[in-house]
Order: sequence, then structure tokens, then C-alpha cells
Amino acid sequence: MLEFSQSSAASASVAAPCVVVGVFDDASAPAAAAIDAAGAGVLRRLHDTGDFAGRLGTSLMLHALAGVAAPRVLLVGMGHKAALDARAYQRACNEAGRVLKDVPIASAACFLPEVEVTGQNADWRARTCALAIDHACFRYTATLKSSGADTPRPKQLELIAGSDVSQGIAQARAIARGVAFARELGCLPPNLCTPAHIAAQAKTIADEHAGSVTLEVLERADMQKLGMGALLAVASGSAVPPKLVVLQYQGAGDAKPYALVGKGVTFDAGGLNIKPTGSMEEMKYDMCGAAGVLGAFLAAVEMKLPVNLVCVVPSVENLVDGAGYRPSDVLHTYAGITVEVLNTDAEGRLILSDALAYTCKRFRPQALVDAATLTGACVVALGAHASGLFSADDALAGELLAAGNASLDRAWRLPLWDDYHNQLESAFADIANVGGKSAGAVTAALFLSRFTEGTRWAHLDVAGTAWVPGRKGYATGRPAPLLAQWLIDQARD
Ligand code: BES
Ligand code: MN
Ligand code: ZN
Repeated sequence: MLEFSQSSAASASVAAPCVVVGVFDDASAPAAAAIDAAGAGVLRRLHDTGDFAGRLGTSLMLHALAGVAAPRVLLVGMGHKAALDARAYQRACNEAGRVLKDVPIASAACFLPEVEVTGQNADWRARTCALAIDHACFRYTATLKSSGADTPRPKQLELIAGSDVSQGIAQARAIARGVAFARELGCLPPNLCTPAHIAAQAKTIADEHAGSVTLEVLERADMQKLGMGALLAVASGSAVPPKLVVLQYQGAGDAKPYALVGKGVTFDAGGLNIKPTGSMEEMKYDMCGAAGVLGAFLAAVEMKLPVNLVCVVPSVENLVDGAGYRPSDVLHTYAGITVEVLNTDAEGRLILSDALAYTCKRFRPQALVDAATLTGACVVALGAHASGLFSADDALAGELLAAGNASLDRAWRLPLWDDYHNQLESAFADIANVGGKSAGAVTAALFLSRFTEGTRWAHLDVAGTAWVPGRKGYATGRPAPLLAQWLIDQARD
């Protein structure tokens, strides 16, 4: 994680080993002061020769530019001035981070927050810039022989915005921590990232904020006493014991809490309905919903938001074992609703059904949002750019969509109509755990809705957004930014 600070233009351009400057596609640079009159001529020349035309997503590192104090100037293409919206701005900042990641310097001074963005203020620009660069500089080291700590790399980022952006920077600090927490936990392999490890990570949050945060971890015996038959059934096929993590943050006296619930399947082999080769390898990420809500919780606590908040994470492993649950088993859930298991690979909704019902009953939250890598169908529908959002509450859905837009951790609403409910009918239980071929993301969400009746609730399916697939993909930390923004908004209103 980078450290962020704010600077004035004058001090930054003198001191920094690298200054980062935005350049539009007409060769104009809003922060040309940083590279002064001498530099401006260079921009024109680069533009005319075609070496650097300021296109969005491009950049050019210059060294020892005449008349510029800083030894390096990173030019970052901002594209067409009139087209610079929030997403384009984030892409430009991300490109800056991609380059800075490998430059052997301890700090950089970044003028990108000076660049005007349609509809956004300076705090937003500083925050978005800080978070985008930090995101691009992420390095996974937990299970590598060399941490790379001996190689000099940027640790500090000075942001120059032309006005006071201390609030934006404070938010960026907290959200970057939450996102880093979620990414590290998400990336960790499943032999290390077990339910017990997730509980231990939750404990580090509670210990660090002992004054305002408390932690409980419910064990298998507690779940048996409470009658959490769905959570226990999924856990039954694995040698590692399940955990139900309950974090509480008190920031607003005795106000009703907001609640976050996250799917924490530390590995999803599918159970007896085992996944085929090619579909199983990335299922260590099946706890990214949990990682995302824990990250958002951490960010909210770090910001000391004036809200009460609970974060509940059911964590299990879904493996294959003689003691495991079977297709056609009927489970008795915590809510008293019986569920016919028609597919052991639809385990996320099972563990969430108990966790959601428990959260509703115990905490009576004023709003509840869950996050889960729930369905491949959501990846088919929305791909990697938007999380699926489901809610029967239009106001809550609107809040979450707006938070997604502001944080650029975007969601897109899909229907949660009763019309789909007959797909979940069962002759042997109150509800079946799968709904057939069509509308898989919708029927999964509808299944969850049965366990949140009477509560203002929304569900985020992050199956397509929580990690980047492939050998060199990482967990993204989503939906921690969206949820952190939503909590900021709730605390303010
Ligand atoms: N964890 C998976 C969903 C998933 C699949 C996320 C691929 C990301 C990429 C979930 O537990 C699952 O297996 N869902 C099944 C549901 C089906 C059996 C109704 C799916 O999507 O195939
Ligand atoms: Mn599954
Ligand atoms: Zn799963």
C-alpha cells in the first residue's frame, strides 16, 4: 500500500524524483506549471512527431528534461478534454500506476488531481487518483520466496490538486487499506486461507480497533445449537471446521446497525456435483465476497464513520467426502425453511441462507447487503465490469448503484421478480437450491430473498468482478469500494 499526502505545486515540482503530469490529445497540459515553459515546448514537439499524442491509456517517461527540477517526468495521456469523464480519468491514473510500479524511486508527485473531470470535485479526483495508482502498484508477496522488499519502489504518493483535498486523501487511505486487505485475503491459496484464517484476519481488525470493534466466532457446535443445517451441510464434506465470523463496530450509539454479509467459501470443488477441470482452479476466490465485506468494514472503521455496522461471514470449504451432503438431501435451515439440495455446487446460497437469516433475526439491521461470488450465470450476463445487483427495495438499489458509480466499482441491476419463483419449487422441501438453466443469477438471488423477508436487503453477485481470471490475475478487492462509498453516503445522510 502506498502512503498518500497532499502537496502544493511549488514544493512538489522541486523535490520529487518523479512528477506525473496529464497531457490532453491537443498537447495541452493542465499542470504545465510542473514542467514549466521549457517543458511545454517539448509537449508540442512530441505531439507533432507523433511520439506522444496524449491518447487515453498511453504514457511516456521523460528523463532530465531541460529546465525541470525533477529528474523524471511521466506524461500521462488524458485523451480528449471534453470526453474526460470519471471512468476515463480513472483509466489514465491507472496507466500512471502501471508505469510507476516498476520505477526505482521512493516517491512520486502526481499532478493528475489538478485535471478537471466532468461532474467531479477535487476531493474525488485526489481520492480516485490515489486509489487507482495504489491498485496498479499492488504486489502479491505472501507465498513468494522473495518479497522484493530490497528493490526500491514507490512507497509515497504526493497528490497535487490545486485545493485542499484532505478529505479525499483520508478516504483514499481507508479504502486502500480495505481493498488491500480484501485482495491479499482473496489471493491467498486455499491451503492457507481456511475458515480459521479468515477468522484470524477478522481478529486482527478487532484487535487493532479494540475500542470500537468486537469479534465473535461461532464454531460448529454453536451452529448445531442454533440449527444452521444449511451451513453445516456444506461444511460436512471438509476436514477444516466451519466458522461464522461476526464483527460489530459501534460508531453511533444505539442506532440500528447496517449489516454486511459475505460468502466465504475458501475453496469450492463443487461437492459431489464436482466441478470439471477448468472450472475448479480459480475457486480459491470463492471467498471474495467475504473478503470484500471485511475490507469495506475495515475501511468504515478506519474512517470512524458515525454508523453502527455488523459484518457477518459464513466460511466453509466445499469439498468431496463420504461424510459430505448429497443431491436430494433435505436441509433444515436456521430460518426453519427446508431446502432440497438438487446440486451441491450451489453451496453459496446455502451458507448465506443461514447467515442472512441469523443476521436479520439477531441484529434487525436498517439495511443489509450481501456480497457473493454466487453464480457463473452472472459472469455470462455482465462479464467483468459490473457486479449484479438485486433488491426489491428501489431506494436501496438506487443508493448502491450511485455508490458504485461514484467509486467506479459499478453494479447493474437485474430483476428479482416473483415471476421466477416457480423455478425453485420442490416436492420434498419448501424450496430447491437450484432453479434450472435459465436466469441462474436471478434464481440464486431469489433463493436468498426467502431468508431476508422483512429486512431492507440487497444482494451483489460479484462472481465476474471479484478477481481477474488467468495465471497472473489477482483478486480485485471489489465490492469493497462500492460498499465503503455506500457507508460513507449513509453516514452523511
Ligand atoms: N462459486 C460458484 C460460482 C462461480 C462460478 C463464480 C464461476 C465464479 C465463476 C458457485 O458456488 C457455483 O458453483 N454456482 C453454480 C450454481 C449452479 C450449480 C446452479 C454455477 O454458477 O454454475
Ligand atoms: Mn459452487
Ligand atoms: Zn461457490
